[in-house]
Amino acid sequence: MDEGQARQETAAQRPARFRRAVVTGGAGFLGSHLCTALLEQGTEVCCVDDFCTGRPENTAHLSGRPGFTLIPADVTEPFEVPGEVDLVLHFASPASPADYLRLPLHTLDTGSLGTRNALQLARRHRARFVLASTSEAYGDPQQHPQSETYWGHVNPVGPRSVYDEAKRFAEALTCAEAEAHGTDTGIVRLFNTYGPRMRGHDGRAVPTFIRQALAGAPLTVTGDGRQTRSLAYVDDTVRGILAMAASDLRGPVNIGNPDEITMIELARKVIGLTGSSSVISFIERPADDPAVRCPDITLARGKLQWEPRIDADDGLARTIAWFREHAPAGDGGGDGAAAGAGPRPARPV
Ligand SMILES: NC(=O)c1ccc[n+]([C@@H]2O[C@H](COP(=O)([O-])OP(=O)(O)OC[C@H]3O[C@@H](n4cnc5c(N)ncnc54)[C@H](O)[C@@H]3O)[C@@H](O)[C@H]2O)c1
Repeated sequence: MDEGQARQETAAQRPARFRRAVVTGGAGFLGSHLCTALLEQGTEVCCVDDFCTGRPENTAHLSGRPGFTLIPADVTEPFEVPGEVDLVLHFASPASPADYLRLPLHTLDTGSLGTRNALQLARRHRARFVLASTSEAYGDPQQHPQSETYWGHVNPVGPRSVYDEAKRFAEALTCAEAEAHGTDTGIVRLFNTYGPRMRGHDGRAVPTFIRQALAGAPLTVTGDGRQTRSLAYVDDTVRGILAMAASDLRGPVNIGNPDEITMIELARKVIGLTGSSSVISFIERPADDPAVRCPDITLARGKLQWEPRIDADDGLARTIAWFREHAPAGDGGGDGAAAGAGPRPARPV
């Protein structure tokens, strides 16, 4: 058996080994789904969150469940959790452009000091550590699709740099920790993920379009709408993250859905699936907004036996159903996408 086969077999056997996980950012969108999935596979979970962008309601369904603890804490300060830990999933960070533009220094501190503190927690407990990095590490890419060997095209002083560079620094810190202290680390580069528990006003395209469509307001598409994203449904992304956690891989490994969609197609799809009478309006495109985004997932397919299973129609339908049921009254409306300027006059397309 060669080393590759041995690693794959180890990967296949590892999920059962985690007894207790710390999820930083566990009260956020992705973190709350990770907490739920871990508890369902029999892993106790300690969620650490400062609620700067997350919400206590995101983990309300877990409170009182055996094995679940919520610790309010800012990970930019050194932190410890009581009891044993054999997995640290470091997901704390503002993630939507609206949030990190509002919290630029906290975003940089969380990517740097917060990552260092989370790595030190993993080292003290000899735990597996997984960093949530991002496709933003590729910036406005000049290689398409993006594979893990691509170094990226990032503006280090642009408005998005607080997020992009914080994540790139966090990746460097994670690699240095593994080299210097032998800590068992992995890095996932997550591409755009959507699903239930996103905030209607967080500025990301899917929740913005759904909120607007359900309110009968114009869907605010930035630029000419021909820029692409590849959108993964949250259940697929969570499965990929847990496969990475269970593996011995250091990464980085891309986790995303390679089905690319233009923003105008996405807006039309949301209008169709919601049965909305909304029109589409075009607003200014934010600075340094990537023109294309699509993961090369050859590595995840080969090493983690992972690929997405849920297509856009299915995932969007599930997300729309959740928004219909849970979006608080008044969460719909006609404001622009948070990272753009005010809407130009609406026109049907
Ligand atoms: N959702 C995506 O499409 C996507 C894509 C790429 C990467 N990611 C990464 O995944 C992680 C989660 O993203 P999300 O979409 O769930 O965002 P989110 O804003 O919903 O969740 C982030 C959570 O981290 C918490 N947090 C932030 N700074 C903190 C700090 N200093 N101390 C403690 N808690 C802190 C927030 O309160 C929030 O609960 C982030 O690290 C993000 O960069 C997400």
